[in-house]
Amino acid sequence: MYKIELSPEDLLRIIFDYTAKIASEQKLNAVLVLMANMGREMILSDRCTVWLIDDANHQLYTTVAHGVDEIRIPYGTGLVGSAIQSGEPIIIEDAYNDPRHNAENDRKTGYHTKSIITVPFRNNDGEIIGAYQAINKLTEIGYFTTRDLDMLSLAASYAGKSLESVMLHQEIIDTQREIISTMGEIGEIRSKETGNHVKRVAEYSYILALGLGLGVNQAELLRTASPMHDIGKVAIPDAVLNKPGKLTAEEYDIIKSHTNIGYQLLKGSKRELLRTASIVAEQHHEKWDGSGYPSGRKGEEIHIFGRITAVADVFDALSAERVYKAAWPLEKIENLFREERGRHFDPDVVDVFFAQLPKLLDIRQRLTDEAGE
Ligand code: C2E
Ligand code: SIN
Ligand code: SIN
Ligand code: FE
Ligand code: FE
Repeated sequence: MYKIELSPEDLLRIIFDYTAKIASEQKLNAVLVLMANMGREMILSDRCTVWLIDDANHQLYTTVAHGVDEIRIPYGTGLVGSAIQSGEPIIIEDAYNDPRHNAENDRKTGYHTKSIITVPFRNNDGEIIGAYQAINKLTEIGYFTTRDLDMLSLAASYAGKSLESVMLHQEIIDTQREIISTMGEIGEIRSKETGNHVKRVAEYSYILALGLGLGVNQAELLRTASPMHDIGKVAIPDAVLNKPGKLTAEEYDIIKSHTNIGYQLLKGSKRELLRTASIVAEQHHEKWDGSGYPSGRKGEEIHIFGRITAVADVFDALSAERVYKAAWPLEKIENLFREERGRHFDPDVVDVFFAQLPKLLDIRQRLTDEAGE
């Protein structure tokens, strides 16, 4: 039942396996889980956690291995907090003999913490950015040794360097997402489309993309890009955009130009995200039967992202009140999608729309305009 210490060969294999996996992973949560697993296997502990510092909120946080839940504790608390503050590792044979141990968690979970090892780690500039913490040694002696400290320090020095680059990558992605959403909202405010239109369209598009089998990466790409679908409306005069009644043919032509304008604004970028956004801006008013605008593309000549956003956008436009129309009841919306299946809309997307309708309605409920931000 006790484990025996690993041979140097076993250790090397673990390190090579995990570092290869970690190097090809760009999602912070996934990297944290891999690192926790690597630490646990290297030093034969029952549990292992990688903690990071959240400077903005003065907290330490971690993603629990194998789960999506996050744990957060105030900066400086617990053993992990002490180790991070002092910059020194801590090894403890029995946590209950140490006043820094926070027994609250044990009480909540029914787990019994005995031995603990905590090793802080640094980024490339030498600043402490987090700590490894392992709990309960699984060998017969039952506590961690200086050999474990060497091992975990090795893992920690690797963790510090790779986590920093993953966090920077994540930071860039988050920033791009924020910029795009903000730009989308600028268009939205101009056209008096209250609150959350672009966010809802993004979430609907994501669900529809997954339902069509596009894969998580493509679905996330679309979710990030689709809030810009109406960005071209920034160039449409207020008098037209916010006209309370029906549009004249000339006014409608002016509004239609928001597709080409959006495309022109975004198409020059080398970034995949902005190029994707340019396609969505250009093609979200094309129709499956070729009667849409600006180009009259037909069927699969319309990019799948355009065909998806068309359904998401119209579902949201009909669900909401506009200066020129009341919100539609769900039944009337469903009838329109049934009628327009294979005319305005790609029949496959409409099928997924109906299959996923409960989820879409959840989103609509959660992101009501009253809920605001
Ligand atoms: P929007 O209000 O966000 O509507 C997006 C799309 O949802 C519309 O694209 C249309 O396909 C669908 N949709 C919206 N309301 C209705 C409706 O009452 N009935 C039906 N069958 N479909 C509807 P569309 O038509 O190309 O319009 C693009 C944008 O032009 C609209 O965005 C809106 O900003 C503007 N617009 C269209 N018609 C009018 C209008 O009569 N008055 C004003 N002020 N603006 C209009
Ligand atoms: C902590 O470091 O606060 C959690 C581990 C413990 O003290 O039990
Ligand atoms: C909107 O969906 O916000 C306006 C309609 C459109 O042009 O897409
Ligand atoms: Fe549009
Ligand atoms: Fe829209």
